[in-house]
Amino acid sequence: MNKLICQRCNKEFSLNERIWRCDCGGLLDLKFIPAFPLGKIKERKPTIWRYREAIPIQLDENIISFNEGFTPLIKVDFYGRDVLIKQDHLFPTGSYKDRGASVLISKAKELNVKKVVEDSSGNAGCAIAAYSAKANIKCDIYVPAYASPAKLAQVQLYGAKLIKVPGTREDTANAAMVAAEKDYYASHSLNPFFFHGTKTFAFEVSEQLGWVSPDTLILPVGNGTLLLGAYIGFNELLEANIIDKIPKIIAVQSKNCAPLYKAYTKNLKMIPKIDKQESIAEGIAIANPKRWEQILQVVKKTKGDFIAVDESEIKDSLKEICKKGFYIEPTSAATVAGIKRYLENSNPDEEIVSIFTGHGLKTTEKMVEILREI
Ligand SMILES: Cc1ncc(COP(=O)(O)O)c(C=O)c1O
Ligand SMILES: [Zn+2]
Repeated sequence: MNKLICQRCNKEFSLNERIWRCDCGGLLDLKFIPAFPLGKIKERKPTIWRYREAIPIQLDENIISFNEGFTPLIKVDFYGRDVLIKQDHLFPTGSYKDRGASVLISKAKELNVKKVVEDSSGNAGCAIAAYSAKANIKCDIYVPAYASPAKLAQVQLYGAKLIKVPGTREDTANAAMVAAEKDYYASHSLNPFFFHGTKTFAFEVSEQLGWVSPDTLILPVGNGTLLLGAYIGFNELLEANIIDKIPKIIAVQSKNCAPLYKAYTKNLKMIPKIDKQESIAEGIAIANPKRWEQILQVVKKTKGDFIAVDESEIKDSLKEICKKGFYIEPTSAATVAGIKRYLENSNPDEEIVSIFTGHGLKTTEKMVEILREI
């Protein structure tokens, strides 16, 4: 049966309840039995919704979509080695977050929600704002007062209301949670429907490879919406006997803000409190990822690893990848730095898939600064 289930106390809820966490405070996962009619899928439009029977939305009329997805998976040469890169910077709002937003806002429509709230300092806010605009749902985006201006302009131009919160990223999340007592919390990091959108990354990669899994995935991680979504997707394909393995997951963090890397490599029982420093990879600079335990478990289960890259590696990687004709934002260049590091010790026959998560045009101010340093 399809249901929401609490990670802490196992209490179950119907998919039709307007909740994002359990009464006990525990986070929710969504248990769902998908179907993959491969013949039909092949004939459908190249969007995330070609996997219709694997997405937990009941009625087609509630789907909010810009025909997003099925992004190209292309070979990129890194020092004589081919790595397959999913071009998710080409999504309608400029990042892979549209995968999650399309499904989550479709669910909000299905629940007859009139207003959503979300907290974000960047791409997730843009995606939730755009899909809410299409759905005619009011949208408030809570942001830290220090957030970068270009993405905030995008949020506002979509018609969302911007609420600037003084203090830390944590203070912003708390302000959104208070608002969420009244309105629907369309949180990318907490609401389980978002992850059942990001999981389409796995379906697309697998289909593009002929319904097989690559050996290794190299993914950026902050709150884990992509990493956990990718795991859910590959796991659903495995359980449906479509693929025979889940790829090893290599998770990339920015050294300036790397709580998950520290917990994993030092085998800590808790996520460490860290002194967060600014990072040019703003999207993954998350000091307190709420689903930390789940992320560590997934990486361990797949026999993967964490890599932490420093600011100069990120900038160098950005310059190098731009010289190959790809314009991606600095957060995505952290993944490129992670690929470079991983290749130093990898098996030459390994099939590796990675991703460009966000478009460079979203961070023009930062790109200009990097250019000045050349
Ligand atoms: C461009 C980009 N890449 C990667 C990430 C990391 O995603 P997550 O926090 O879901 O792990 C983000 C998150 O905002 C992002 O904006
Ligand atoms: Zn509970």
